[in-house]
Amino acid sequence: MLGIVRDVAGLRARVRDWRQDGAAVGLVPTMGALHEGHLALVRRSLATTERTCVTLFVNPRQFSPTEDFARYPRAEARDLALIEDAGAHLVFAPEAAEMYREGHQTEVSVGRIGEILEGEFRPGFFAGVATVVTKLLLQAQPDIAFFGEKDYQQLLVVRRLARDLDIPVEIAGVPTVRAPDGLALASRNAYLSDSERAIAPALYRVLVAAATNVAAGKKAKAEEARATAELKAAGFAPVDYVAVRDAESLEEARDPHRAHRVLAAAWLGQTRLIDNVAA
Ligand code: PAJ
Repeated sequence: MLGIVRDVAGLRARVRDWRQDGAAVGLVPTMGALHEGHLALVRRSLATTERTCVTLFVNPRQFSPTEDFARYPRAEARDLALIEDAGAHLVFAPEAAEMYREGHQTEVSVGRIGEILEGEFRPGFFAGVATVVTKLLLQAQPDIAFFGEKDYQQLLVVRRLARDLDIPVEIAGVPTVRAPDGLALASRNAYLSDSERAIAPALYRVLVAAATNVAAGKKAKAEEARATAELKAAGFAPVDYVAVRDAESLEEARDPHRAHRVLAAAWLGQTRLIDNVAA
């Protein structure tokens, strides 16, 4: 039976009981509006740990005033049914007033890895993410927390903060789940019109082509320029960035012997899509 708690004390009590039984605990943080990508994290947690807690919280602090906090999709009843079907044990779904109690001031900022790429286009975004994820990790104190490679920079930001703050948790990355045409599943895909949805898979196609060329020894800068031009030709506007980076630091890729990642963010109408692939 799926339990639901909405306060930190309730969450801690449940996790304490699990620990007393010797169970390993997995945490899957989400903002809800669940799809198969989220459920892949839940399944990975269920396969790796004895108890899985999924969190549902649309975190106001990671949305800028011009972003879509108010219209971000919310579907709690459906989410709960999906989580129960998947077999998870607990949902933590706090109100904003529980997560950020009166007088809340502390903010976690991760430094450079949160300032480049997404951080440049969404100032404050990673501070919002880092703050809420730090709180969730300290509230639940899981053995393993699961994050998607879909948000690759976020995964690295979370790894960084867990290491830097000595939070005793393993951060596990889970490969991106895609639609059959390649589009990475994302809650915001619901915003796409039919014609935009038809264009959207070009993002993945273009990234795969760039990654293949980089792996074959082509120059990063030339591939970034070519991929940007192809996205524009497909109908993306603006293209915020296409970047070939070191897969660990996300700094510019100078050493061809290290693993690379190709990351991009681009707009289709009012919707901003991000994706990334290994190179
Ligand atoms: P959200 O966008 O709901 O995503 C929750 C988790 O699901 C993240 O780790 C994300 O990378 C993963 N995910 C989303 N789409 C995926 C896909 N197609 N394949 C695999 N994993 C996917 O990311 C957030 O929420 C928030 O920033 C959060 C970490 C919860 C902090 O508020």
